[in-house]
Amino acid sequence: MPTITIDGREIEAAEGRTILQALDDAGLLMNGVDVPHYCWHPKLSIDGSCRLCQVEVEGIPKLQIACDTPVRDGMVVHTQNERVKEAREGVMELLLINHPLDCPICDQAGECKLQDYSFDFGVKESRSKEPRRALKKNVDLGPTIVFDQERCILCRRCVRFCREIPKTGELSIFNRGDHSVIETFPGTPLDNDYSMNVSDICPVGALTTKDFRFKIRVWFLEDVPGICTGCSNGCNIHLGVANNKVYRYLPRRNDAVNDTWICDAGRMSYSEIAAPNRLRECEVRNDSGQLEPVGLDRAIEVAADRLRRLIEAKGAGVIAGLASAHASNEDLFTFKRFLAALGSETFGVAVVRGKADDLLIKAEKASNATGAREIGFGDARTVVDRITSGAVDAVIALGHDVLQEGLLDNEEPLANLDTVILLDTQASEMQRVANVIVPVRHAAEKLGNFVNEARRVQRAVPAVESNWEAYSDGEVIAKLGAALGLEGFDGSYDARQVARDLAAAIPAFAGIDLDSVGDEGRVLAGSAASGTER
Ligand code: SF4
Ligand code: SF4
Ligand code: FES
Repeated sequence: MPTITIDGREIEAAEGRTILQALDDAGLLMNGVDVPHYCWHPKLSIDGSCRLCQVEVEGIPKLQIACDTPVRDGMVVHTQNERVKEAREGVMELLLINHPLDCPICDQAGECKLQDYSFDFGVKESRSKEPRRALKKNVDLGPTIVFDQERCILCRRCVRFCREIPKTGELSIFNRGDHSVIETFPGTPLDNDYSMNVSDICPVGALTTKDFRFKIRVWFLEDVPGICTGCSNGCNIHLGVANNKVYRYLPRRNDAVNDTWICDAGRMSYSEIAAPNRLRECEVRNDSGQLEPVGLDRAIEVAADRLRRLIEAKGAGVIAGLASAHASNEDLFTFKRFLAALGSETFGVAVVRGKADDLLIKAEKASNATGAREIGFGDARTVVDRITSGAVDAVIALGHDVLQEGLLDNEEPLANLDTVILLDTQASEMQRVANVIVPVRHAAEKLGNFVNEARRVQRAVPAVESNWEAYSDGEVIAKLGAALGLEGFDGSYDARQVARDLAAAIPAFAGIDLDSVGDEGRVLAGSAASGTER
């Protein structure tokens, strides 16, 4: 491996990498070694157009752009000397000649690279006396993105993204010289499954999402690391939180899972957290068939009474468990232990399926189908078969996936059961047939691990608190187990302890708990892949 010296610091670089890539690989870029850059992006091809990343390489008379200069053994690079600083200031001054002074009303303010680099590497005053270039504002590029042509610094990241990642190529540079502008091709709006990523990679406030713009200044947001639960890829995200509310999902870089991207559907799935259809109170069905609100203790008591009566009359074999692939490992392991202690052998997981591609989007539309299977939940089809054949009298369902997935055309077969106990986050047709309903926490509201399709265990931490009484599925099941007097259940639930119990009980999870999994995740034991899964 070539060894290079940057500002007196020796680093090893992989053969064929450029100076900027070597710094990025070493985790030093803008994190110990400041080489400002606009057009370079770690997951896009090299453009070399902005000229901001110039550095001095000993033995080469002219300054070189770090993004497109390959390393060679013994190379000595200076990133902070006077020549380099002067060149940077020149580039910054050039970029700012036409940039509008929009910062107070620009949504990018607070996370704008032009703003940041101007403070850190620019000059304090403009020498230009010419009027700024007037271009189009508020250009509607498609269903998700609005474009401000005046703010664009022509780094071409958005153009390369569309060509190289979704490969849809809607954007291009039109005209020449200082008439150059970004536009969509006529009749081709920016409309692909990953379109909103252009807003993340635009270094300035030229491309903003219609969803987030003008909602909140970004400096009020706290970034909480988490995972998207929209499909089994488990893309890593930051949840932008303020005032106990999630305002947006942004991609969080994880080269083994989602690089620096997320799909638009996953990005927008944050709206489920505070959706009007969230279940907000426990309910039990009274003697006249009406649902009436109760506290959790009463809901548990009614559920336990109904199950106890059935067990005494017919045995636990008539009770079935429908797990949700949206529940965490800890929820699911608690549910599995509960069903075993009860003596039920009829259980499975329903997984909703949908569109997939060869980039990120997976067919399984839930974050933990793999975890559910590893923990021992088979296909929910066997449960449905036993329900429709009359062999089951009671179902405990985590979520209503069984209806969405199409295993049951409608909730009617469940209406014939003696007891349906439903733990769910969102309203559904299943409420119509449930005897007991308990609202549970969304993944953004609880601590738990999830296993993605490539068998990587990833952690979600509570980013917000629900504004009503809600528990994780595991907590509710633990209370139900205690109410039934099941062995091993005293009503308490500690997700960290459950994760350790899971690691001790199932070999694939050995050594993986809620702390050791970290923010990057860890692959289950016995997986073919141990690092890069895609
Ligand atoms: S719109 Fe943004 S990403 Fe696209 S070229 Fe302009 S500055 Fe770069
Ligand atoms: S690909 Fe899947 S996990 Fe990733 S952002 Fe989209 S829905 Fe979420
Ligand atoms: S980042 Fe190197 S030229 Fe733009």
